[in-house]
Order: sequence, then C-alpha cells, then structure tokens
Amino acid sequence: MGGGRVLCLVLTIFISTTQCKVFTRCQLTRELLKANFHQKTFLSNWVCLIEQESGRNTTALNVKSARKQYYGLFQIGNEYCKEGRKGGKCNVACEALLDDDIRDDCSCALQVFEEEGFKYWSKWENRCKGERLPDIEKCPDWQYPPRASPDRFKRTPLRSRLTEPYPYNILTKYQRLKRRK
Ligand SMILES: *[C@@H]1O[C@H](CO)[C@@H](O)[C@H](O)[C@H]1NC(C)=O
Repeated sequence: MGGGRVLCLVLTIFISTTQCKVFTRCQLTRELLKANFHQKTFLSNWVCLIEQESGRNTTALNVKSARKQYYGLFQIGNEYCKEGRKGGKCNVACEALLDDDIRDDCSCALQVFEEEGFKYWSKWENRCKGERLPDIEKCPDWQYPPRASPDRFKRTPLRSRLTEPYPYNILTKYQRLKRRK
C-alpha cells in the first residue's frame, strides 16, 4: 500500500510537470522536426515565431477579450478552435492546444499558415521578419535535408506533403521520377 501511494505521488508529479511544458530552443527544434516542419529557413522562422508568441510555453494563454483568446505555443486564435469540444477552422478543442502534445498545435499552425501565411502572427511580423533568426543549426537534432523516414510519410497527410516548401518538394518529385524509370 505504501508502494502504491509512492507510485501515485510519482505519477501525480509526472503528470503535473508534463502538463505545463516550456521547451528549450533545441527541444522545440526537435519537436518541430518530428512534426514535419523541416525546411531550414522556415524552421528558424517557426522557432522565432514561437519564441516571440509564447516563449515556447505550451500552456500560454492570452485572453484579449471575452471573444478573443489565443492558445498555446503558436498562440492560435479561437476562430481556429472551439472551447470545450472540437470545432473552429482546425476542428480542434482550444484546450487541446494547451497540453504538451503539440501534434495538433502543429497541424493547426500549418493550416493557419496555408490560409494566412506568417503575417497572421503580428509578433512574427514585428520581431522575426527580416530580423536575425534563432540559430538552430547548433541543435543536435537539426538536420537538412531531413532523413527520409517511412513512418514520417505515413503520418503526413497528402495536403501537407504537397505544400512541402522548396526544395524538398522538388527532391521528392525527382526521386519519384527516378523510381518510375
Ligand atoms: C506558461 O504559461 C502559463 C499560462 O499562461 C503560466 O501560468 C506559466 O507561468 C508559464 N510558465 C512559464 C515558465 O513561463
């Protein structure tokens, strides 16, 4: 029983520490690479954007007014999510953008980017655009071009594969042509 209580305590500490997560720059780089943000200049723009918008804090929440809130790492506005249940343009619950599972945040951010570009984020516009971007090439997980991983492709929906930034898109097209011969 004592053991059970200790386990419970350990689990509670584990859960409460994983729920609020502030990434380091290199951890963030690794997580973004896992989520298919793998283009050199784009990736450092995303890292800059996240640093300016949320300070890499997955639980960052900004309530501008009763009608306007911004959620999570990317500070995604509530037109893209719905409180309490799935909804909004990303069909995601806003609360899901505040946990440390950032896969849903990333796919929603890519959707925002597809619709509005980086200019959606005013802090990117003011503090990243044309500025010196974070130096992520020193991070141990940083790699360019990305290693081909079959399971990465399985998880990538076709839509985001097609919007893969140049030159990655060209490279895969070229490989496809080569294979066909
Ligand atoms: C992360 O954001 C939450 C919610 O805004 C805040 O309570 C918390 O203190 C922040 N953590 C850090 C380390 O800044």
